[in-house]
Amino acid sequence: MDVYILAIESSCDETSMAIVKNGKEVIGLSIATQIDTHALYGGVVPELASRMHTEAITLVLEDVLNKAKMKLEDMDAFAVTYAPGLTGSLIVGIEAAKTLSLIYNKPLIAVNHLIGHIYANNIENNMEFPMLALIVSGGHTELLIMDDDYTFKKLGETLDDAIGESYDKVARVLGLKYPGGPNVEKLAREGNHTYDLPRPVMDDTYNFSYSGLKSAVINLVHNETQRGKEINKADLARTFQDVAIDELVRKVEKAFKETGIKRLVVAGGVSANSYLKEEMQKLCAKYEAKLFIPRLLYCTDNAAMIGAAAMPLYLKKEFSDFSLNASSSGDIC
Ligand code: KG4
Ligand code: ZN
Repeated sequence: MDVYILAIESSCDETSMAIVKNGKEVIGLSIATQIDTHALYGGVVPELASRMHTEAITLVLEDVLNKAKMKLEDMDAFAVTYAPGLTGSLIVGIEAAKTLSLIYNKPLIAVNHLIGHIYANNIENNMEFPMLALIVSGGHTELLIMDDDYTFKKLGETLDDAIGESYDKVARVLGLKYPGGPNVEKLAREGNHTYDLPRPVMDDTYNFSYSGLKSAVINLVHNETQRGKEINKADLARTFQDVAIDELVRKVEKAFKETGIKRLVVAGGVSANSYLKEEMQKLCAKYEAKLFIPRLLYCTDNAAMIGAAAMPLYLKKEFSDFSLNASSSGDIC
């Protein structure tokens, strides 16, 4: 029997719903983005985000049902992101999911947003285990081993900033619009690696650190500006990106060598970066490893990935009750 899950994602600045069949096939997907509003302020304003989710949520529901040509009665379960994210934003999605679950008397499934990013790779592919999972988003940078569905072992994580956060801060100091990641990537393509930026050196661990690199870029821009010197923004973006991505490559390479695992899944907003993709492709070729990176649409926040991640929970009957609440922190393991 086919399983249809309606999934809701509202953890940050996208209100999204998807209808996903058997955790694999996206029957309908609707995403209302708030980027233009937050761009005016240079970053996400939590108060505005939750208000805009409230405004958008019923429209997004209508849109996804229209796209899928399905009715709410056809759903087998309602899934929702409950963590990590902005509490006020998460609550909007959670309350919507609880209401639908109550009215249609179908199970409520709570999904971790980061696990959602990982399972985005299961939509058009079949993830195989054991595998390494590299999470690179606006709030997280983690390297994990997955031995099976929903079985996580953390190798390392960032000790300070997330890689996406450092892209966003570097974008801001270079005068690029929010969200910075894609704009830094675009500018970096026109530049050369000419600056000297510090590489985080923690070779004996799987941990990451991006605050030193971010601060170095900010200080360099301020110092040069004070001296009345021109910054070559494209070169600086390129140098920053080289160092930032190289750090990911080094840690994944260490994991390939030490674990012998021959599969890598890249997950989270920064997986949309084509330089990261190219570098991971080269690395995987060197270690004869299989690489999974989602299609661009499923790299950044969307509800289809939540529907994909909800499927193993549906099969295990891991359902939530109506006491489900939002959580801003969302450690997977
Ligand atoms: O996963 P995501 O959409 O939201 C979170 O869960 O955080 O990730 C957003 C992050 C932002 O920091 C954004 O700048 C970054 O992903 N990002 C990129 C690119 N596209 C999005 N960073 C680098 N290159 C990109 N092409
Ligand atoms: Zn995300």
